[in-house]
Formats: sequence, C-alpha cells, structure tokens
Amino acid sequence: MPSVITIDGPAASGKSSIARLVAKQLGYTFVGTGNMYRAFTWAVLNRGIDPGDAAAVVAVLPSIVFECPVSDGQTHVRLDGHDLTADQLNSDAVNAAVSLVARVPEVRTRLVADQRALIRLGSLVMEGRDIGSVVFPDSPFKIYIDASEEVRASRRRAQGQADNLAERDRIDKARKSSPLVVPDGATLIDNSAITLDEAVQLVLQALNERGLKS
Ligand code: CDP
Ligand code: CDP
Repeated sequence: MPSVITIDGPAASGKSSIARLVAKQLGYTFVGTGNMYRAFTWAVLNRGIDPGDAAAVVAVLPSIVFECPVSDGQTHVRLDGHDLTADQLNSDAVNAAVSLVARVPEVRTRLVADQRALIRLGSLVMEGRDIGSVVFPDSPFKIYIDASEEVRASRRRAQGQADNLAERDRIDKARKSSPLVVPDGATLIDNSAITLDEAVQLVLQALNERGLKS
C-alpha cells in the first residue's frame, strides 16, 4: 500500500521546501498543491474573469484543460497544453487572486479529485492547506508546519515577491470550503527559529515515531 505524507500550513511557512526534501529523502513523489490552485488562477485571469466573481469562475471551469505530469520526482502543472513557469505561477497578480479562486467549492472539488488520483504514482509527500484534513484524512502521517507571521513575511520578502500573506491566510482560514486548519492528529512543527535542514530532520523523526517504514 502506498503511503501519503500530508504537509499543511500557512503561506511561506517553509512547507514546500520541507516537503520537497522529505520526498527526496524517502524516494516519494513530491506534490505541491498550491501550484494547482495557482494554475487555475492563472487561467481565470488569462480569460479576463474577475477572480472574486465565483459564478464566473465556475462557468469557466469546463474550458480549463489541466494535467499534472511527473518528472524529476515531482508533479508539474500543465494548463491548456502549456507548462506554466514559476514566474507565472508566483506573479503578483496570481498571489493577489489565488485565495479568491481557491475558496470556490467547485474549484476545490475538481482539484481534490485530481490530487487523490495521484496515488496511482505510488507513495507521495503532498503539501497544501487541506491535505491532512480533506484530501487524505485517513493518512497516519500528518504534519502541520508553522512559523511566526514576521518570519514568514521576511522569508517571502527574501524571495523577492510582493505577497500579502496576512490577507491570503485570513481568506484561507475563514472560507467555508476546506479552510486551513491543523488537521486532527497532526504533528505541529514551528520552524520559525530553525534551519530548513533541522525542520526536515524533525519531520522525518515524527514520521519515524508514527511508524513510517522508509
Ligand atoms: O507558497 P504559499 O504557501 O505562499 O502558497 P501556495 O501553497 O502556493 O498556495 C497558494 C494558495 O492556494 C493558498 O493561499 C490557498 O488559497 C490555495 N491553496 C488551497 O486552498 N489549498 C491547497 N491545498 C493549497 C493551496
Ligand atoms: O511553501 P511555503 O510557501 O510554505 O514556503 P517555502 O516557499 O518552502 O519557504 C519560503 C522560504 O523560506 C524559502 O526560501 C525557504 O528556503 C525559506 N526557509 C528558511 O529559510 N528556513 C526554514 N526553516 C524554512 C524555509
């Protein structure tokens, strides 16, 4: 039976860097679900749709062709037959709109189905906001990564991005459909004051204590 390690947490907490390294260490496929919501947001903006107009977002969904091919041990996002670059996925426009698109229940239903289907690839490390609470709630390997708001803002600034983290977190925690929560039974790791490598070691130790056979 493949294992799924779920890693959730707020924006710029370090979860994708940690998840990528944990996946590499274990030889599992890394799946960043934030990029999937970012790709849909790119599609919505590209079609001239107001991301705050939920009905218009729902109406455009059938026209979006979305795939998650795997290479180099991780999934990528392909939209309407094209690979999206990191610059496109992390553009200021997408940062500002992604939480509005991600709170639309129909968007989540579609992406959660795609995320669950990735189990066909074998064992996964999947990171996002609702992976331990909604996508794979039965996984025994749930981690929640946190860091203080100041540390998260300074990490994102160091990446050179304009990103209103506090506003994105507010919308992500307040939405009705799959809000950001600490999943039941998750190990909470605050990595405000430790290095990336130390955080990875803590995650591997927690997984080991939970009986992960690596
Ligand atoms: O990297 P960062 O934490 O800033 O963001 P991300 O993981 O790329 O996620 C971008 C946005 O997608 C989040 O602010 C959420 O609105 C949404 N998201 C979500 O709703 N559910 C997920 N499983 C992953 C991301
Ligand atoms: O995926 P998420 O938005 O939660 O965060 P990330 O993009 O993985 O991490 C944001 C930045 O913080 C990256 O440049 C990481 O290398 C850095 N980071 C760090 O300096 N120390 C940590 N303990 C964790 C992350």
